[in-house]
Amino acid sequence: MKIREFGVEIWMNAYETTCRYNLAETCVESLTVEQLLEVAGVQETILAELLPMKLTYGAIEGSDRLRDAVASLYATRKREDITITHGAIGANALVHETLVEPGDRVISVLPTYQQHYSIPESYGADVRILRLREENGFLPDLDELKRLVGDQAKLIAINNPNNPTGSLMNKAMLQEIAAIADRCGAYVLCDEVYRGIDQDGTGFTESMADLYGKGISTGSMSKSYSLAGLRLGWVAGPRELIQAVAVHRDYNTISVGMIDDLFAAIALEHRDAILARSRRITQENLATLDAWVAQEPAISYIRPKSGTTALLKYAVDLPSRDFCVRLLESKGVMFTPGSVMDMEGYVRIGYANNPAVLKEGLARTSEFLAELKP
Ligand SMILES: Cc1ncc(COP(=O)(O)O)c(C=O)c1O
Repeated sequence: MKIREFGVEIWMNAYETTCRYNLAETCVESLTVEQLLEVAGVQETILAELLPMKLTYGAIEGSDRLRDAVASLYATRKREDITITHGAIGANALVHETLVEPGDRVISVLPTYQQHYSIPESYGADVRILRLREENGFLPDLDELKRLVGDQAKLIAINNPNNPTGSLMNKAMLQEIAAIADRCGAYVLCDEVYRGIDQDGTGFTESMADLYGKGISTGSMSKSYSLAGLRLGWVAGPRELIQAVAVHRDYNTISVGMIDDLFAAIALEHRDAILARSRRITQENLATLDAWVAQEPAISYIRPKSGTTALLKYAVDLPSRDFCVRLLESKGVMFTPGSVMDMEGYVRIGYANNPAVLKEGLARTSEFLAELKP
């Protein structure tokens, strides 16, 4: 079966290990094992848990301890409404694989993580794109969504907080989307991998899995929890959907690693401390980015409301890929070109990594922009 190449992944694989200033990374600066154990206060006890662990396949659908910890992120979901996956990438792939058949009408926002439109396209679905436009603050136009849904959509795929724009739909907007889906019985898949680090309020916006009977939320340890190395994610949603996902999951997952499952449970049980760190990093770094954008005449942006990324618009007459490659080659700074996420004219920055790298990377980008001027 043919599928389009995953633009962002190909770009990242080509450059992320050789660049000097990585402003393309989308995780909040990752934690070491030592930092995780320290935050959780389990340095003294962890070996007693690990050493007797017999490395079987473990609990197939995820341990009860982990699924309870994940369920506690939702107001209405219980252990049985959760299945554990290989990252959110595994969670999203499983949901699409479970729900989408050839000819099904699938609506996906764009820009977003490419899985949400390229996977259903590869299954022969009738994929309709709901463009998120800068003039709407990169939020969806719900009249347009109604038209695209018609009376026959099977699935609406959204992403909140959004990668790459950092836009954030509030509860009222999510409820409106649920109501539009409900008119034709469509599922709503909301990729919530960046949940928990809103710039304002508690950091948490409501989850689609709590707002709609056919609402499905995917999440993971990678971004707001700074633990991408665990490769651990989940699907939360209606029980019958979780059971249908399990049928597919048996063919490509079996279970996740027992050590990953344990570390993820420990992290979620101590999430307040982890998320406090993540929010401090994202808030302080966004202030750095904001100040830089304000004094850089060639750059403008819609200030992100959550997540770890933003789209920068650049007033330079270069395709985004050329812009990024020239910046990388001359200054060692890595952004992600808009072209690899179907957003030509922009570059994406991931601003939640090491503050010193962010500051130096931005300073070098200013030099690059100054040198481009005739
Ligand atoms: C919106 C979105 N969803 C899912 C993923 C996959 O995340 P992971 O598999 O690391 O949980 C990413 C990673 O960049 C993402 O940005």
